[in-house]
Amino acid sequence: MEKFNIAIDGPAGAGKSTIARLVAGALGFVYVDTGAMYRAVTWKILQENLPAEATADMIALTSRTEIRLVPGENGQTVYVDGLDVTGMIRSAEVTGNVSRIASVAEIRSILTAKQKEMAAGKGVVMDGRDIGSHVLPDAEVKIFLTASVRIRAERRFKEICDTQTEMTLEQLELDIARRDRMDEQREASPLVKAADAVLMDTTDMTIPEVVERILELCQSRV
Ligand code: C5P
Repeated sequence: MEKFNIAIDGPAGAGKSTIARLVAGALGFVYVDTGAMYRAVTWKILQENLPAEATADMIALTSRTEIRLVPGENGQTVYVDGLDVTGMIRSAEVTGNVSRIASVAEIRSILTAKQKEMAAGKGVVMDGRDIGSHVLPDAEVKIFLTASVRIRAERRFKEICDTQTEMTLEQLELDIARRDRMDEQREASPLVKAADAVLMDTTDMTIPEVVERILELCQSRV
């Protein structure tokens, strides 16, 4: 099969990263988790203790920070200026601040330019919030994955219950709903389904079923 690009968007916890990784593996494509890039920048900003109002400093820091995503057997390793931050970018502190930082238009432009570059050679499965609508408007296959807030919180809870034991399911549900609201309501490339994206509600679907559907779509579209 010729190489092409797949954009997978949707709200937090819809299963995007698991599904994107499996689809990429099945096609021999590269998986790019753009949420990890926003998390990496957020981690760096928190690390430097920049106050919430220091937007210009945040932008300058973003443009001089090197973020590298290295695909491997167990998913993707994330480096910030050469340091492996893969685990640290999943902390509750980063999760609690990332949507605020992702709402800064100039930070989005810097990361969007990197994402476009990564997909320029095709053969990329990219997941995020604005991939089909903004980053890769010409992606050959566009999917918008969603699921009820409750089921998304339950899925996240299972993922993090070993490491973040202080989080309850109710807190997670509130956190997910808050992030969705911020992502949908921001001015700069908000979370939105691209007009030509295929909507898939995964509330009652298993992961293999979703992957299968996407692979079928790829067959029919390309
Ligand atoms: O996908 P993940 O939940 O790790 O993304 C973390 C946050 O990064 C999202 O809640 C959103 O605020 C931001 N994000 C974004 N645009 C993307 C990917 C992620 O604004 N393309």
